[in-house]
Amino acid sequence: MGNDKELMGKLVSLCKRRGFIFQSSEIYGGIGGFWDYGPLGVELKRNIKDTWWRDMVTGHDDTLVAPGAPACYAMVGLDTSIIVHPQVWKVSGHYDLFHDMLVDCRTCKARFRADHLETSECPRKPSVHPGGHTECDLTAPREFNLMFKTHVGALYDPASTAYLRPETAQGIFINFRNVLDTTRVKLPFGIAQIGKSFRNEITPRNYTFRSREFEQMEIEFFCHPDQSEGWYAYWRERRFAWYTSLGLQSEKLRLRDHDPHELSHYSRGTADIEYAYPFLPEGEFGELEGVAHRGDFDLRSHMEGKLVRQGDRLAVETDEEGKPRYPGSGKDFRYFDDQTRERYIPCVVEPSAGADRTTLAFLCEAYTEDAIPDSQGRLESRVVLRLHPRLAPVKAAVLPLVRREGMPEVAQDIYRKLKRHWHVFYDERGSIGRRYRRQDESGTPFCLTVDGQTLSDDTVTVRHRDTALQERVAVADLIAYIEVALEGG
Ligand code: GAP
Repeated sequence: MGNDKELMGKLVSLCKRRGFIFQSSEIYGGIGGFWDYGPLGVELKRNIKDTWWRDMVTGHDDTLVAPGAPACYAMVGLDTSIIVHPQVWKVSGHYDLFHDMLVDCRTCKARFRADHLETSECPRKPSVHPGGHTECDLTAPREFNLMFKTHVGALYDPASTAYLRPETAQGIFINFRNVLDTTRVKLPFGIAQIGKSFRNEITPRNYTFRSREFEQMEIEFFCHPDQSEGWYAYWRERRFAWYTSLGLQSEKLRLRDHDPHELSHYSRGTADIEYAYPFLPEGEFGELEGVAHRGDFDLRSHMEGKLVRQGDRLAVETDEEGKPRYPGSGKDFRYFDDQTRERYIPCVVEPSAGADRTTLAFLCEAYTEDAIPDSQGRLESRVVLRLHPRLAPVKAAVLPLVRREGMPEVAQDIYRKLKRHWHVFYDERGSIGRRYRRQDESGTPFCLTVDGQTLSDDTVTVRHRDTALQERVAVADLIAYIEVALEGG
């Protein structure tokens, strides 16, 4: 587990070769911390986001108590703007607190995150120092805010400064009242959002793991404070199980509770879901998702103003005149329970996942090298992406064995019928063995081959990606066959 640089190198090269992930702006030398998803990558990432949305939001049954849940709950979605009123970030704490400690080299101008330096010495190998010097001359650590700045409107002055959101969560909090007022949801319920976030990371690294532009899949779950511990426990387990259900092996995945000193000033508990990515040192895990008990911090801040910790409680931060330093909206975010006649600010449990880190974990997990028998029974090595069928970019490839005897026409007819349901691929060029191998590398679960027998009995060969075993299935049954396989995984 972990520390498999060779595997990582092979995966990165496959992702480029097959069109999963490209370096952004590659033709101009690239730009650090930005990535493009190619034709297969966009399908994989979209399937991950769609599966998350389906499993967490639209497929959620709010009339039943889910296993492990304290009660029934509803889920709704939102899609909020990337740029919001700058006061949002002042009140949320991001304006003052969302920073990393930065260390510069006075000689070569290289920048490092202070927490990435184990000693006060330069972590680079002497051979990679620009300018040929051998030891960096490091400054003392200083604060560096991670939010990207921009300007709204024609004037370029402090009053027009705005920020690209560093998380999608705040868009949900500021719409809490809108959702309550426009839907029939009652507490407990969750609001989900998928969207881009931006952080000007000092040292983007490890492929797409730490990027400057990335996508988040976040849920803000609102509940009664007395039930919040039960909901926190529920979401920790629920989210962990989601990854294992889609094929991440449990020994490479772990749920790690934060030590008290790691907790944010508002958090009453946080657990990270972590994966042993191959680029990490042996035994180390990287965060895929954080599940946080945020108390009433966010709703209360947007109501009253930016909060700070005072002893064991949170209070509105004030200026010299005793006024809120960053005032809230004044909007009443309290929830009124018409059964109990109680009015209160709900607590929030937040499962916050990264779509890019999730995509990367599924790719790392899926990459396999094995050997299968060729047409003469000799073992042939291959690379295969064993992606869960729900996530696979292409669900099936339709392949006429040869480009004559009417096989392409029959295959194209099947292709058109399947295309109405899924992303399928048609390929008639090259030897059948090479076409299979290509689909194995793309993670396609099924290859459907039209051969001589198809013309007489209307069946095709279904070749299974993981085992390379083949069976015959009637053309009329193909849609039902693939449907069952996609559900079952
Ligand atoms: N709203 C809470 C929040 O944003 P976070 O732990 O800072 O919490 C949540 O981010 C998730 O977003 C992380 O678990 C990770 O998957 C993803 N993420 C954060 N920073 C990232 C980056 N620079 N590149 C890629 N993904 C990132």
